Amino acid sequence: MNVAKEQRIEAELRKEAQESTKRPGRIAWLWMNMKGVRGIYIIAIFGTVVYNAMQLVVPHFSQKIVDEFLTGENAADNLVNHKDVFINLLIAMVALTIIRVVVVYCDCMTYEYVSQKVLYRVRNILFDKIQRQDMKFYNTYRTGDLMTRVTGDLDAVRHMLAWVIRMIVEAVVLVGSVSIYFFYMDWRLALSLLAVAPFILGIIVLFKNRVAPQHRLLREKLANMNTIAQENISGNRVVKAFAREDYEIAKFDKSNADYRDTNIQTAFTWLRYYPYIESFANLLGLILLVMGGAFLIAGEITMGQYVAFSGLTWAIANPMRQLGNIMNEFQRFAAASAKVMDIYYAKADIMDKEDAIDHPGRFKGKVEFKNVSFQYEDGNLPVLKHISFTAMPGQTIAIMGETGCGKTSLIHLIPRFYEPTEGEVLVDDINVADLHLKELRGSIGLATQDVLLYSDTIDGNIAYGDGNITREEVVRFARYSAADEFIARMPEGYETIVGERGVGLSGGQKQRISLARALAVKPSILILDDTTSAVDLETEKQIQHSLKELDFECTKIIIAQRISTTKDADNIIILKNGEIAEQGTHEELIGKGGYYAELVKLQMGSEVA
Ligand code: GTP
Ligand code: MG
Repeated sequence: MNVAKEQRIEAELRKEAQESTKRPGRIAWLWMNMKGVRGIYIIAIFGTVVYNAMQLVVPHFSQKIVDEFLTGENAADNLVNHKDVFINLLIAMVALTIIRVVVVYCDCMTYEYVSQKVLYRVRNILFDKIQRQDMKFYNTYRTGDLMTRVTGDLDAVRHMLAWVIRMIVEAVVLVGSVSIYFFYMDWRLALSLLAVAPFILGIIVLFKNRVAPQHRLLREKLANMNTIAQENISGNRVVKAFAREDYEIAKFDKSNADYRDTNIQTAFTWLRYYPYIESFANLLGLILLVMGGAFLIAGEITMGQYVAFSGLTWAIANPMRQLGNIMNEFQRFAAASAKVMDIYYAKADIMDKEDAIDHPGRFKGKVEFKNVSFQYEDGNLPVLKHISFTAMPGQTIAIMGETGCGKTSLIHLIPRFYEPTEGEVLVDDINVADLHLKELRGSIGLATQDVLLYSDTIDGNIAYGDGNITREEVVRFARYSAADEFIARMPEGYETIVGERGVGLSGGQKQRISLARALAVKPSILILDDTTSAVDLETEKQIQHSLKELDFECTKIIIAQRISTTKDADNIIILKNGEIAEQGTHEELIGKGGYYAELVKLQMGSEVA
């Protein structure tokens, strides 16, 4: 399949996943995702039918050989007079076996091809989905759990296509065609052999009821183990700092053992039913021996027919034995696909409205909060209460207040990471909820409180928001954020690769790169959440100065603890328990003698004149 076609199908499926209001059944969902490879898959199923049918023809030939050349009345004559027929039959048997091997080979390849195609496609769609989710989603799902969904769970889905369905087809074809053949030879013997089938099916149903919850549990345990591993690896510095290696090892060991035990339990569930299945499967041989023997002695069936019967009982017995395995794998698929579909059909609450307003070109950068209140969905108290203020284009607004008073929550409403529970947030007099997220967020430069850098070069990190900017520009923004100097001093300069999450850089260095990254999109609105807290006062002064000299107009909303950062702001907002306690300029607030004036007094001695 060519790339363009694959992309078109993927886009269609994404659209479906986005818009559908009803989740289909898991098999229907699988079928839907097989778009474009369904034809090949049906050919593969046909191939399975063919090679299994071929398997049954061999005993038919052996029956002929036995009856006509070995034990029949004229066997000796036939062997002499019709030697050519005898040899032809032998050649046909060998040829059939070879052809069968080729068909099986091609068939397996086809199943594998289709299943890999679907795996690739669904994984892409899942990643796309995960990317487009809102903050709430990331607060809900643990990283390890998400990783399990796009790896292990998805592989169980692939296994369904590549193996489980093939086994089901195989079982149906074998049992079906052998039954027909048996009935054709002698219906009474056929009926006595097939009498065991209902018992086996009954056992399988009992088994299924028992094993289905086991597989759901197993899957949870795996996700749990992955989460522990992932959190431990990304938090390894904390582990080391507290010398908690042994504790972490014990924690992982426990979860690993838990997973192993659940695995063993699941396997033992099958073992509890297996003896019954095995007994019934072996009963077939006994029935054949007793009934078939009696029929043979009574002359109701020929020796050749007896050989055919006995040569084919495996074709009923084996699928019966295999049923437990198939059911096991099917339940694994059931548990995993439910998890995959959760993400596949996840809907972000925060997305573009259908009639979102187009805003081509640059925003002026006016930001207005109109009586905004906000509460986290999982929280039980409002975090922001009746917040109103306006930042005119180009102005600088500072937000201060003690820790936990709601500063970060407030600025997260501007790029619409969350939706206010009351009131509205406007950018250029348009409610942010009415704007296209891409346009809104594209015009905001945000340096978050905890800096996250990618394992990439420093250049790549700064240019993250706009891949097209030149090295000169990257350097210019690094200068604005007082980062150029230390970057230039690094052995490979802008080409230095920073480790995962920026390992290898100091806190203040990371903050400055994050500031340069926010500036590099030339935003209309620049939001800095405690971005210079780890930077020394001298460097901070330098940054303050450059922020005033930016060569593009930009409204700045700055969260800070230091008076030195905020004193020149056009408006300083003091938040207290989610409410605006005071606001005004430096002088006005000092005049008021409130929290800000206290802060000035406190910090005076050390830094502010
Ligand atoms: P500092 O960064 O420490 O200066 O605090 P802040 O003013 O930025 O506080 P922030 O806006 O992060 O948090 C305000 C309140 O909201 C706090 O009481 C937090 O516990 C709470 N909060 C923050 N994030 C979440 C969240 O994702 N879910 C819930 N339920 N509460 C949250
Ligand atoms: Mg904060």
